[in-house]
Amino acid sequence: MTILALETSCDETSVAVVRDGKILSNVVASQVELHAEYGGVVPELAAREHLKNLLPVAQSALREAGISVAQLDALAATQGPGLPNALLVGLKAAQAAAFALNKPFIGIHHHEAHLYSPWISGETRAADFSNFQPNVSLIVSGGHTLLVLVKSELNHRVLGGTIDDAAGECFDKTGKLMGLPYPAGPLIDRLAEQGNPKAFEFPRPLLHDANDDFSFSGLKTSVRYFIRDHPALLADREKVCDLCASVQAAIVEVLVKKTIRAAKREGVRCVTASGGVTCNRALRLELERACARNGFALRLAEKSLCTDNAAMIGILAERKLLARAPLPSLDEEIKPGWALV
Ligand code: KG4
Ligand code: ZN
Repeated sequence: MTILALETSCDETSVAVVRDGKILSNVVASQVELHAEYGGVVPELAAREHLKNLLPVAQSALREAGISVAQLDALAATQGPGLPNALLVGLKAAQAAAFALNKPFIGIHHHEAHLYSPWISGETRAADFSNFQPNVSLIVSGGHTLLVLVKSELNHRVLGGTIDDAAGECFDKTGKLMGLPYPAGPLIDRLAEQGNPKAFEFPRPLLHDANDDFSFSGLKTSVRYFIRDHPALLADREKVCDLCASVQAAIVEVLVKKTIRAAKREGVRCVTASGGVTCNRALRLELERACARNGFALRLAEKSLCTDNAAMIGILAERKLLARAPLPSLDEEIKPGWALV
């Protein structure tokens, strides 16, 4: 089965061709530079950029895969959640193509696709979902922070999520307070390598609460007050590295401890993680250590598949087709606030 998948929920225009669990191409045009000037994603600009880039990116994906549109069996696109106008571009393009080619269309939940990205790996990049179920899955990015219990394929339950800022948003916004460019997450990761994570003490929000929820806005506020009270610190590179390491340690500790606690309580044997923040080296390392200590198998999405991409949309679409899951009609609308349940 050969599927063309589109992802335009935020600031990456991505098109992938997948066939029988393998990624034949996965082209991603990032808009990061466009939005950096504004310190965050500007929804209207994101949508216009998708309009400009979608067809060239789709042509590249088809060319790279060596596939013509006549060989496609189905089309898929992210249906939500995401920025409304950005979602519309990819969803309507995929539906129009499905209509013109008289092929099925599969609307995909963005977070559910992140759940599957740790399973797209290895040289063959074969999707292998069944060996490590049930598992507890952490999805952490600029827009979402979720803990999900994956009971079996296409069968999951959200355990908890952020009640305010997402973890990536916390990286980006605290970085902005330090004067770092958007998105600050990858830069904090690099600077933290040279810093002392115990240099400054920041709160670990909701760490000891008896639920699987997260909160990062208080941490952001405490960094704001800390910088207000120590303005000279930002001129000292060594201290900025210490600050990055200390903030990162607070975020990572909460994510790792709450993930492990949920995994123990749910009695699973495996933990997985995906989403842009899963690129973070400290998070990967601490998850590896904590899983090894507690006897959990760990599956982290490959770094190139942590951030938003259409390959994960295509792989999940294929699984849904194979499982004969109900498909949306061609005039199905976008679902900007679509909650994963
Ligand atoms: O999954 P993604 O590409 O888009 C969303 O759906 O949000 O994630 C982007 C987020 C940004 O907040 C970015 O700062 C963060 O992931 N991020 C990182 C790292 N790489 C990306 N945060 C911390 N450390 C990193 N290495
Ligand atoms: Zn995402």
